[in-house]
Amino acid sequence: MVVSNYLVTGGAGFIGTNFVRHLLAHTDARVVVLDKLTYAARAESVTSLPADRVELVHGDICDAELVNRLVGDADVVVHFAAESHNDNSLNDPSPFVQTNLVGTYQLLEAVRRHGVRYHHISTDEVYGDLELDDPDRFHEWTPYNPSSPYSSTKAGSDLLVRAWVRSFGVQATISNCSNNYGPFQHVEKFIPRQITNVIDGERPKLYGAGLNVRDWIHVDDHNAAVLRIIEAGRIGETYLIGADGEENNKTVIEAILRLMGRDPEDYVHVNDRPGHDLRYAIDSSKLRSELGWAPRYTSFEEGLAATIEWYRDNEDWWRPMKAATEAKYERTGQ
Ligand code: NAD
Ligand code: DAU
Repeated sequence: MVVSNYLVTGGAGFIGTNFVRHLLAHTDARVVVLDKLTYAARAESVTSLPADRVELVHGDICDAELVNRLVGDADVVVHFAAESHNDNSLNDPSPFVQTNLVGTYQLLEAVRRHGVRYHHISTDEVYGDLELDDPDRFHEWTPYNPSSPYSSTKAGSDLLVRAWVRSFGVQATISNCSNNYGPFQHVEKFIPRQITNVIDGERPKLYGAGLNVRDWIHVDDHNAAVLRIIEAGRIGETYLIGADGEENNKTVIEAILRLMGRDPEDYVHVNDRPGHDLRYAIDSSKLRSELGWAPRYTSFEEGLAATIEWYRDNEDWWRPMKAATEAKYERTGQ
């Protein structure tokens, strides 16, 4: 499927802006980004791209009229926009319900009306968590069991997509990916928070004992998989995206400190996250065997070193977000 006009929601956020860059590098597509420019976005991440290929529309995915107009001009919609941070969802779930559920509903109604291809970006958190010693991982058939307001609204949005495929014949695919890292990630998230803490001479902050495991994937590998699914995925199917990158949080903090030339033990334990999921792990065999995708970043340590370099070189990008983010964490003792 050769697509020329993309509508990318949330393209001023972390994964979305990397996806737009991926499209510019690997396709001839024109891209319209629809983004509300919440605290999580930087408009410059989009406006710095070639204007003849990328346009930024500042607006809300819950705005039915706007969404209807933009979807009508697109060949494919890739839906990244979301409230994405678990800790924020525990402090105030309401924007999560609005954006993740109502916003997805508006997009589905618009693609239904216009017969436009739709790809839905989701998370492995919809499956809940695994025990540390569980030999199994998440599969496309694992039952949904989300833990937080964030993950439950993402789970709800996935179910809306499945229903719109079955009941209305919407041409959609879904992908559920594990934890991403790489450039342009907001400093509220684990890895950039610790890197920027170290740059600022602060000690990294580990929730609880730090034994929780996340399955890390570089954002470019996630986005290559998304493009592959759009081009060759089967309509109505769900694909899990993961790069066999399981690490516990303590190990990640120690690696960041070591790679940044600091004592690997020089971090502090802070309050744990309520309901904190223990372990995520993805089995991405379906994506690999059916669509021939494989991750390019096979060394987490190398990807982490490149990410540290990016934050060192791009302080102008993250500095405006740092103080407000840390003030928010201060209130919950994290
Ligand atoms: P992010 O928070 O960095 O970016 C979200 C973007 O959505 C921002 O630009 C924000 O302004 C925009 N947005 C929020 N509400 C909006 C609204 N109502 N209308 C229009 N735009 C709105 O998030 P991210 O980490 O880039 O995540 C992108 C998507 O990928 C989300 O759907 C998330 O659930 C999913 N995902 C994330 C990860 C991860 O590790 N970060 C892993 C798997 C899946
Ligand atoms: O699994 C995919 C999900 O990954 C995405 O759906 C979410 O959008 C994304 O935010 C991410 O969710 P997590 O909650 O796993 O990511 P976060 O970066 O918030 O935290 C990663 C782990 O690190 C988690 O176990 C909590 C811990 N942590 C986090 C922060 C911010 C710390 O120990 N210290 C911290 O300062």
